Order: sequence, then structure tokens, then C-alpha cells
Amino acid sequence: MPVIAIIGAQWGDEGKGKVIDQLAEKAKVVVRFSGGDNAGHTVINPQGKFALHLIPSGIFYPETTCIIGNGVAINPAALIDEIDQIIRRGVDTSRLLISDRAHLIMPYHLLLDGMEEEARGGQAIGTTRKGIGPAFADKAARLGIRAGDLLDKKAFLDRLRSVLGYKNAILTKLYGASPLSLDEVYHQYCQYGERLAPYIKDTTLVAEEALARKELVLLEGAQGSLLDPDFGTYPYATSSSPLAGGACLGSGISPTKINAILGIFKAYCTRVGAGPMPTELKDKTGDLIRERAGEYGTTTGRARRCGWFDAVAARFSTRINGFTGMAITRLDILDSFPSLKICTGYKLDGETINYFPQSIAALDRCKPVYEELPGWQVSTTHIRRFEDLPPQARQYISRLTELTSCPAKLVCVGPEREQTIEVSPIL
Ligand code: GDP
Ligand code: IMO
Ligand code: MG
Repeated sequence: MPVIAIIGAQWGDEGKGKVIDQLAEKAKVVVRFSGGDNAGHTVINPQGKFALHLIPSGIFYPETTCIIGNGVAINPAALIDEIDQIIRRGVDTSRLLISDRAHLIMPYHLLLDGMEEEARGGQAIGTTRKGIGPAFADKAARLGIRAGDLLDKKAFLDRLRSVLGYKNAILTKLYGASPLSLDEVYHQYCQYGERLAPYIKDTTLVAEEALARKELVLLEGAQGSLLDPDFGTYPYATSSSPLAGGACLGSGISPTKINAILGIFKAYCTRVGAGPMPTELKDKTGDLIRERAGEYGTTTGRARRCGWFDAVAARFSTRINGFTGMAITRLDILDSFPSLKICTGYKLDGETINYFPQSIAALDRCKPVYEELPGWQVSTTHIRRFEDLPPQARQYISRLTELTSCPAKLVCVGPEREQTIEVSPIL
């Protein structure tokens, strides 16, 4: 039965892809449950270095079925491109499945994402412009088109005709843009449908069968908890839930079936796009972290904003997800710092607080209260056992687990599959 949800605990890019690639060795099913190709999950393993956007990071194991769940918004062109790219590199995609309930990103979603961002001017969210917000808005507005719709061309045409009429009115009347051609969109998406048809099915049955056989199922998160539309730094957020709760909704697996919820934390913080980030370092230290770590987005190539570990935000994300353990990635990036800071509280309008405020205006005014710990100043990249880490590194990890009240399960000391220290069992 075991189900492990793997959840981004900060603002995304915590190293979910790496951890899933490692854990998937024992999994029979990996279900990606939210987001779309806004995600970029880097996997480095004996088959090479891969940047996955929609395909679950378990795809490298011949025994593992990889499901793109109902909670994902799929750009079919991007998915076909990704499938073709990894096939060319010798990866077998015959065990890939797409939920027939997953919504599709349509050409108007891509256009509207860009136009809405332009219209926001100085308040732009800094989206990935992959059409994510408009696609999930249509899902909620009951205007979405789903993967399963591509399997019935007649019904698809009727549905597209009514939705496109409405979307073209917005494109032309609100934005002064050209309308999209029904014929072109229809034929293009019929072609995508023909190509993807072998993968599309009711994937909840596949997951259920694996659970009945008591096989390990992983739920693969995208983005990070602080980008959640309910609990993140709204409106500087994404549009589907990266949380453990979202894992159930986006996969069709019941909350009662989840045995472990692993929060993936970087040993420091990063964020890409606009919105509050209390521990952001707009100085040489921030630049140093970015350069040492190569903190540039996997999807858009944008420089990631870097800062010290924020234990206030980490406590919040641990609480709303109910993490049963944490994986701390990129510890090695901190190897050469003489001392390290951890944010243990915020100063807000003269008062010290230890909660993560709802309001972005308040978060923008929050000044981090830091605790300073000694660095270890030796390389950790070759270490594979917790007890072999330098005492200062162990102290740093212990402090993170203490401040979040969440036990450490894994510590990563490099991007490669084997650069992982198992601290305690996940299950
Ligand atoms: P994801 O979106 O959460 O899967 O994370 P990304 O792939 O966008 O970004 C994480 C980056 O960190 C990738 O380039 C990984 O290869 C890399 N990475 C993951 N774990 C470690 C680690 O422990 N050390 C180092 N140096 N890099 C890591
Ligand atoms: P992974 O899965 C980091 C950010 C964008 C922007 C905001 C909204 O690799 O961790 P969207 O395109 O979703 O409407 O953009 O969310 N964002 C991410 N940041 N990692 C991601 O995914 C992200 N996906 C979206 O930069 O600030
Ligand atoms: Mg990423």
C-alpha cells in the first residue's frame, strides 16, 4: 500500500526531481499531480542530465509506470516534444500514462498568460508564460478542455466551437488581438490527440491496482508550497495546489492512503518571479549562492532570487502539509561559507512575530531575525553517511529540524543520484 507524497516546501526548485528519481527505484507508480510545464525538474542519473517539465521523474526505471495526473494542465505540444526528446536519448516512454481528466493548455491560454502579464505592468507576477493561470482559471470556470475530449473528435469540435467563440471575443475585444481559427486549432489538437491517444486513460484505476498489490506509489509535486494559491504569497502564486492536499485531488488517491509526506527543502531559499521573500539577499552573499549553485530557472532560464533558510516559512509549510519528514537538498552549496544564517522570526512594524503573515504587504515589511551558526568549510559532496558529515553541518541540519519540528529523512550533497545521505527511514 505505501504512498509517499513528495512536496516542494518552499518556492519551488527545491530538488524534487532529484529526490523522486532516487526514490522511484523502488516505486511501481509515480503520479505527477499538479502544475504543468511551468515546472522544471532536473534529473541527473547514469542516463544523463534531463530537464523534465511534464513527464514524471520516475520515467528512467523500466518497471515504473509514470502517470500525468488529472491535476496537471498539459500543453500537448510541449508534452509531445518532451516525449520525443527523451525517446531520442534512449529512454523508454511506453509506461507513460495521461489522465483522461487532465486539462489541456490551449493556444488562447498561452496568449492570455502573456497579455495578462503585460496588462499587470509593475504588478506582473513573473509567470512562466506557459498558459498555466488561464488554463486553471478555465478549469474552475468550467470552460476547460480535457485530454479525454481529444478521443471523441465530434464532441471535441462542439466543445471547442463554444469555448473558442468566447475566448476570441476576449482576445479581440479586450486585447485588440487577432482571433484564433477554429479550423486550425481543431485540426492541430486532433493531431495531438492521435499522437497522445495511446497514453490517455482513466489513470485512477492504474493507481488503485498498484495499491491493491501493495506496491510503492509516489506522488510527485510541482512548484512549492509558498506558491500555493490558498496558502502561498497570493496573488504572487501559481494556479494549482502544490500541497499534500493537492496530491490527493490531482491524482485521485485518497488522503487515507498516504503513508508519508516528504517536504523537500533547499538548505537555503530561492524564488523565481515576483512576490515577497523575506530572507532574499540582494547583496554579494546572494550573488555568491546563485553563482555557486547555478541558480537559474530550468524552465525560463531566469536568475533565481537567493537567500538564507527561512524557518518561519518552513514551519508554516510543514504545518499546512503535515510533513512526516524533510529532505534537505543542496547542503553542499553551503560548504565554503564561514558562517550561516537561519531566519527564526520576523520583525514586523516593531514587533517580533513567528508566523507567516497572510498579507503580501505585511510580508514585504517583514525583516528577518537571524540566528548565526558556524560553517564547516570542507567539501561534503563525497559523504554518504550522516555521521561522516562535519559536526557543524550536523548542527545546521539539527537546527533546521528543531525549528520546523520535522525529522530529517534525506540530505543531498550533490545533484547526482547517489549524492544522497539517508538519515532515517521515510516510511
Ligand atoms: P525541482 O523543480 O524541485 O525538481 O528542482 P530543479 O531541478 O528546478 O532545481 C534543483 C537543482 O538543484 C537542479 O539543478 C538539481 O540538479 C540540483 N540539485 C538537487 N539536489 C542537489 C544537491 O544536493 N546539491 C547540488 N549541488 N545540486 C542539487
Ligand atoms: P518547479 O516544479 C519555481 C513561479 C513562477 C511565478 C509563479 C506563477 O520546477 O519547482 P505560473 O507560470 O505558474 O503561472 O507562474 O510561480 N513558478 C515556479 N517557480 N519552480 C517552479 O516549478 C515554478 N512554477 C511556477 O516563476 O513566480
Ligand atoms: Mg524546478
